[in-house]
Amino acid sequence: MAISGWHPRYRTGIESIDAQHEEIFLALARLKSAVRMGGEGEDVDELLGYFARITERHFETEEAFLRLHNYPEFEAHAKEHVAARANFAKIRERYRDDRNALVETIVTFVNDWLKHHICEGDFKYVQFLQARQENHN
Ligand SMILES: [Fe+2]
Ligand SMILES: [Fe+2]
Repeated sequence: MAISGWHPRYRTGIESIDAQHEEIFLALARLKSAVRMGGEGEDVDELLGYFARITERHFETEEAFLRLHNYPEFEAHAKEHVAARANFAKIRERYRDDRNALVETIVTFVNDWLKHHICEGDFKYVQFLQARQENHN
């Protein structure tokens, strides 16, 4: 299971957003080691709950920020957040049903989602904001 942590390539340049992304990466690392320790370490279900909470807070921050800047693709971006929320809830439910079968899948899924979220979804609004700033200079 190849999972990398925070990397400068994920930096958006927006301080509050970067801090939250980093926090999410850290939560993912904790989740990963809990899964590896197979019940000896932190509680996976609790970590999934924690992950959902900080991710939710992050979505709220991003959505408020994008509204503030009248981001034209706001709806599409918010829709991605809705889908992610639903997926996390589903994952947690499945984990509660079967504590053995899904753990590797969970971590891989969350890892892939996080990279997609930042690299595709978030970088799109960063580009938009940067372009607008350049036009104003
Ligand atoms: Fe984000
Ligand atoms: Fe986002």
